Amino acid sequence: MDYFLIDGGAKLAGSVTIGGAKNAALPIMAASILTEGETVLHGVPELADVNHLMQLLGQLGVSCRREADDSLHLRVEDDSQCHAEYDLVRKMRASVCVMGPLLARRRQAQVSMPGGCTIGYRPIDLHLKGMSSLGAEVQLIGGDVHLRADTLRGAEIFLGGPFGSTVTGTANVMMAAALAKGTTVVESAACEPEIADLAEFLNACGARIRGHGSPKLVIEGVERLKGCRYTIIPDRIEAGTFMMAAAITDGELRLVNGRMDHLLAVVEVLRHCGVSVERDGDTVVAAAGRKLMPATVATQPYPGYPTDLQAQLMALLSRAAGNSVITEKIFPDRFLHVAELNRMGARLRKEGATVIVEGVAQLIGAPVMASDLRASAAMVLAGLAAKGQTRVSRVYHIDRGYEQIEAKLAAVGAAIRRLSE
Ligand code: EPU
Repeated sequence: MDYFLIDGGAKLAGSVTIGGAKNAALPIMAASILTEGETVLHGVPELADVNHLMQLLGQLGVSCRREADDSLHLRVEDDSQCHAEYDLVRKMRASVCVMGPLLARRRQAQVSMPGGCTIGYRPIDLHLKGMSSLGAEVQLIGGDVHLRADTLRGAEIFLGGPFGSTVTGTANVMMAAALAKGTTVVESAACEPEIADLAEFLNACGARIRGHGSPKLVIEGVERLKGCRYTIIPDRIEAGTFMMAAAITDGELRLVNGRMDHLLAVVEVLRHCGVSVERDGDTVVAAAGRKLMPATVATQPYPGYPTDLQAQLMALLSRAAGNSVITEKIFPDRFLHVAELNRMGARLRKEGATVIVEGVAQLIGAPVMASDLRASAAMVLAGLAAKGQTRVSRVYHIDRGYEQIEAKLAAVGAAIRRLSE
């Protein structure tokens, strides 16, 4: 198993190129099931999650090929398979995104019910409500959800749940409704840029979707979708993580291909803490200020502060001059990084879904364990700032969502190495 060894203390400086967004690429790749002809995607990051989905799509009869120019070519060769098996679904929850496309195009889907996950309870009841509103028959048999519909029909669907809307649930409904008969109106749809990107992709294939980026989607079903050429938006979570890497190391990083308009809530918090974040032409420059100030932050659905940058912010605020309060409102149990950061000298106290962060002058290197994708990024950030050496084990978590993070960090001055046990 690979691990990272980080010698903390280096100020980061230089340029980092932000890759395509994982959470946009995954549903867009799944949407290729809906299309006829070839789809060519640019900006699909090379990540373990992308490889898992390529494997699943392969099992579902979609050929996936990376070309030398890094484009990903997808084409449905065989539409007889409709089963997303437990083995792949349990490795990656985003596999559930094949449900809507399979149902719409092949009239049935059998998707293993995703089980528990390190970031907490993650039901799919809203996905299923959406599918059944469109006319699907839904049954749970032997741990698999079986869905069937000879014809999907447009409907009015409210997709809000106790924690707001659902990102991949909105993706599933949008993809199924794109080929349904008639018009679907989704209220309380997810507004995340990745969902808007999926809608843009589907429209480029011939779909008729309006309102994406807002909580009300109007989807007029069409007869068929044709493959197209499309470029995935940049990854806002990767960009936010590198902004915090600059801030925590007292450094300055220029983000090439960083979209500040997708990160306004994060920029607001960072500026409040004294971090400078400015546009400079096509790039965004993030630089540490003289003193890091504390903040009170709650995660929220987009355009609020993203849960996927909660752990990284906690690492950063561990070093602030004062006490911060971080509340998790999307995944109330997403706090596995708390105990690990405390091993590095952070002073974090968890109370329910809130963590009180008492800023300390110095974090101290220690062996720590990555527990999920974003928590691992927090460990890496803490390690970059800590005195001495940090060993982050189980970095396969980070490989799911950050493309060559150690190479990108090393190129801007971090002393980080990947080693194998
Ligand atoms: N929820 C329900 N019922 C559902 C679906 C969701 O109650 O049927 C609840 C969840 O339990 C949670 C909230 O609604 O409390 C939001 O969950 P959502 O469905 O939006 O999450 P997701 O679609 O499973 C995506 C991202 C996550 C990101 C969340 C929230 C992808 C592939 N995954 O997950 O990304 O944290 O939205 O923004 O897009 C990551 O990249 O590290 C990651 C976990």
